[in-house]
Amino acid sequence: MFYKPEDGHGLPRNPLVSCVVPRPIGWISTLDVDGKPNLAPYSMFNLVRYDPPAVMFSANGAHRDGGLKDTVVNARATGEFVYNMATWELRDQCNDSSTFFDRGVNEFDATGLATLPSRMVKPPRVERSPVQFECRVSFIINLPGAENNSIVFGDVVGIHIADWALKDGLVDIESIRPLARMGYLDFTSVDNVFPMPQVGVAKT
Ligand SMILES: Cc1cc2nc3c(=O)[nH]c(=O)nc-3n(C[C@H](O)[C@H](O)[C@H](O)COP(=O)(O)O)c2cc1C
Repeated sequence: MFYKPEDGHGLPRNPLVSCVVPRPIGWISTLDVDGKPNLAPYSMFNLVRYDPPAVMFSANGAHRDGGLKDTVVNARATGEFVYNMATWELRDQCNDSSTFFDRGVNEFDATGLATLPSRMVKPPRVERSPVQFECRVSFIINLPGAENNSIVFGDVVGIHIADWALKDGLVDIESIRPLARMGYLDFTSVDNVFPMPQVGVAKT
């Protein structure tokens, strides 16, 4: 099939997000201007530069009460956020933290997640998440054409990797089981890895 987005797909359910899978989940913690923590998952998330490292996440659509989503409001106001890796073990808390809570609700408390302090920025980390990046906002783009669509870019200023998530000095993906978003209401988790050497590419 072929369709132009503006003409519609004609399928029972929208195939769009199933066509870009699996998407890593940026489980983003921030603080509001009063210092209250906020936590929400963003699957339009990725590492966008190695050196110096940078990440981005994209917020689509409005907060239930109108205006930008809390994570964007907070990142804009404080200039800081933390990326926490979501895992199979934390799948319920990750999903629950996406609930449209009232502004100012602390999703750590609402989902029963403990925090750890960060070193370089103020937003806390998800204690049970095996990988966290402390980030400073570099710039925010408001996408033209739709209201309340913002892409937040951040420079990674500190990286935490849990000791248990390292095996022989390598990040052990099979024991972490990172959670990823698919289309519709589907998720997956990475539970197998295979190496494929690239000609002329040194080990990184
Ligand atoms: C796994 C998952 C991934 C999500 N990815 C996105 C995303 O990329 N962009 C977005 O705007 N909303 C996304 N959402 C919805 C937000 O998490 C939801 O709107 C949340 O309430 C926003 O919280 P906030 O207002 O505290 O930032 C996702 C939800 C889930 C469960």
